[in-house]
Amino acid sequence: MQGQEIDLTVYPDECDAFGHLNQASFLTLFERARWEILARGPGMDVFSRHGAWPAVRKATVEYQAAAFPGDVLRFHQTLTHHGRTSFTIRQTARRLRDDALIATAEFVFVCISREGSPIPVPADFREFMSARPVSRGGPRRISVNGVNLAVDVRGDGPAVLFVHGYPLDRTIWEPQVASLEGWRRIAPDLRGMGLSDAPDLGYSMATYAADLAGLLDTLGIDRVVLCGLSMGGYIAFEFLRQWRERVTGLVLVDTRAEADSAEGKRSRDEAAGLAREGGAAAIAETMLPKMLASSAPAALVERVREIMSAAPVAGIVGALSAMRDRADSTALLADLRGLPTLVMVGSEDRMTPPARASAMASAIPDARLIVISGAGHLPTLEQPSVVTDGLRAFLAGLAAG
Ligand code: MLT
Repeated sequence: MQGQEIDLTVYPDECDAFGHLNQASFLTLFERARWEILARGPGMDVFSRHGAWPAVRKATVEYQAAAFPGDVLRFHQTLTHHGRTSFTIRQTARRLRDDALIATAEFVFVCISREGSPIPVPADFREFMSARPVSRGGPRRISVNGVNLAVDVRGDGPAVLFVHGYPLDRTIWEPQVASLEGWRRIAPDLRGMGLSDAPDLGYSMATYAADLAGLLDTLGIDRVVLCGLSMGGYIAFEFLRQWRERVTGLVLVDTRAEADSAEGKRSRDEAAGLAREGGAAAIAETMLPKMLASSAPAALVERVREIMSAAPVAGIVGALSAMRDRADSTALLADLRGLPTLVMVGSEDRMTPPARASAMASAIPDARLIVISGAGHLPTLEQPSVVTDGLRAFLAGLAAG
């Protein structure tokens, strides 16, 4: 968790006779959040070691919704103003489960000495509050088909759904989700990956696609532009088989329509054995050399290693069996007539090479192809602005059409 955010649970003794978190406890939780955040940063004694005390001069709390025992609230805070002896902190409390805004608050403090006279705000406090990047907030938790999915939801406008590959998570689309203003960007961690629940059994392309449909239902979204990278593309094909009418545009990145060959299926089973024995780290070691272009910077290699090493083993094994058993989608391609489609591929992708992407794009009646130089299997991270620009132009075409 980032420095200026903390999760606190509501307890029954903090609630009134109707079970709502009461006013006094709200104030206590806001205060607790501030101290806990300091404890993780410069220390709770950041004021006292300078002989200072932050006295509240003014407090404004706006209660937006009720909170109940067991709710986990995410407190987020920013320093909105600081003078020589005073500062203002704005806090929000959102329920983690559904991201509902529960309350906002603003506190004006003045630092006082033991004798009660104003004294300067300690520099280390000010630096901590100003220098640390304000957290973007964590993903929303949305319960779909019996699992809790971690989902980034940003912006307003027509919806774009970003589906990641294996054994990755929603953050491979981070540069695109952070941009593309004017669109509602939705990037879930698939079941078994990232921060989503990872049940032991029940993985298939149909399940992943049903999760996506359920997620859209929960968010009240009827139709989307569907973007899938690699395994995300396999899931997009399955989604199209079942919910073609919900898709207004298709973006296929470093993926393929064919099913696994017999040898490919055997490698899936071997990989599942490796995951069970060596864990996600062993899978990351075998995948990493195939993922990125030779020119990928070391920091990116490390980032991708971290994402893959964090994948739950149950999710890895589940995804491997889902990919092994997936249907061949080549016959579907010709049926996509009328669906605007963008195919993108890294020029150095060894897993789904450009020739394969080009053949797939030719088989889709309304597709165009962009080959991204200096990228391997993960152009969204390797050449983020090229991918974002390509997507932006494609989306603009859809909006205009
Ligand atoms: C992916 O990136 O999703 C996988 O490499 C796909 C695959 O192994 O077929």
